[in-house]
Amino acid sequence: MADQHIQAPDSARTPPPSLRWDEHPDGPLLVLLDQTRLPAEEVELVCGDVPALVRAIRTLAVRGAPLLGIAGAYGVALAAARGDDVDMSAAALEGARPTAVNLGYGVRRAVAAHKGAVGVGAGGQEAAAAALAAARALHREDIEASERMARQGLVLLDELLPAGDHRVLTHCNTGRLVSGGEGTAFAVALAAHRAGRLRTLWVDETRPLLQGARLTAYEADGHGMPYRLLADNAAGSLFAAGQVDAVLIGADRIAVDGSVANKVGSYPLAVLAKYHHVPFIVVAPTTTVDLGTPDGASIEVEQRSGQEVSGMYAPSAYNPAFDVTPAELVTAVVTEEGVASPVTGARLAELCARSRQVSVS
Ligand code: MRU
Repeated sequence: MADQHIQAPDSARTPPPSLRWDEHPDGPLLVLLDQTRLPAEEVELVCGDVPALVRAIRTLAVRGAPLLGIAGAYGVALAAARGDDVDMSAAALEGARPTAVNLGYGVRRAVAAHKGAVGVGAGGQEAAAAALAAARALHREDIEASERMARQGLVLLDELLPAGDHRVLTHCNTGRLVSGGEGTAFAVALAAHRAGRLRTLWVDETRPLLQGARLTAYEADGHGMPYRLLADNAAGSLFAAGQVDAVLIGADRIAVDGSVANKVGSYPLAVLAKYHHVPFIVVAPTTTVDLGTPDGASIEVEQRSGQEVSGMYAPSAYNPAFDVTPAELVTAVVTEEGVASPVTGARLAELCARSRQVSVS
């Protein structure tokens, strides 16, 4: 089945789930909330096969590191259920976007479950069920990880800023739209809001695709959070005016040396935070820590079309989707297993070892 759009059910202030598996009588479907259409419309994008899902990943209809991992795992289950070549489908999914390590993790975990089932003599549908079970497990674990990161992140925020009444700056979108649960960095800000300790959530627009203006503002609005949008290049004067108590961001990949790849524009915020003595806090599940990537320079940064930047105004543009912040600028990495501060390879490895996430090669 080709990918097609259907109107999502009216959901008042709670957005529809970012992703759901649908056991359709004609064959399973992966149904995504199309993030390219938000906030104007809550429209679902139906993916009936892996090529449709790969298009959805490339166009950012589905996006954000944890959700990419979950989508990748369900994609493998979809391929297996259809009787498509699982290895080829897995390669296509893994190659769809290079930076978020979660995508490869989710894909490999579902492939391992599928291969394990085949290895013990399971038939095609039984092996497909094993891949689906792996995807569902990852989805559940992400919800739990999100809750634990929110709790630990709020404790850290309160320790670093004992006066409470936090004014927090965030970049890109790290909430429910990137997760099975309430997200990563955004979930911490939301926990602060629920505890009555968030004075302002400063939301960077996040050029060029406006994940902050379109998606974080939509989520913050839905929760009734006190947020204010700013152009990315207004952050400097906001720091200088003493209006930022902490920066909270997510991550797409964290290398062994503690370097953090995240949405382009994160690194300049880290430099500003250091200069202004403001904590720069990264919130990410242990599945985002990549013990196979030694350092920041080894992280592949996705380059996207210059059209996203220049539109009709210039023939070409520099458009990296992410940048890399060195560990020395990061105050803490908050994972579901605990906090790394200072951010060292040894501490990150310890948190990963504690993780209940299934390890895959
Ligand atoms: O290009 P995107 O929108 O997929 O980039 C997303 C980000 O950079 C997020 O900050 C990151 O994935 C962390 S989400 C928990």
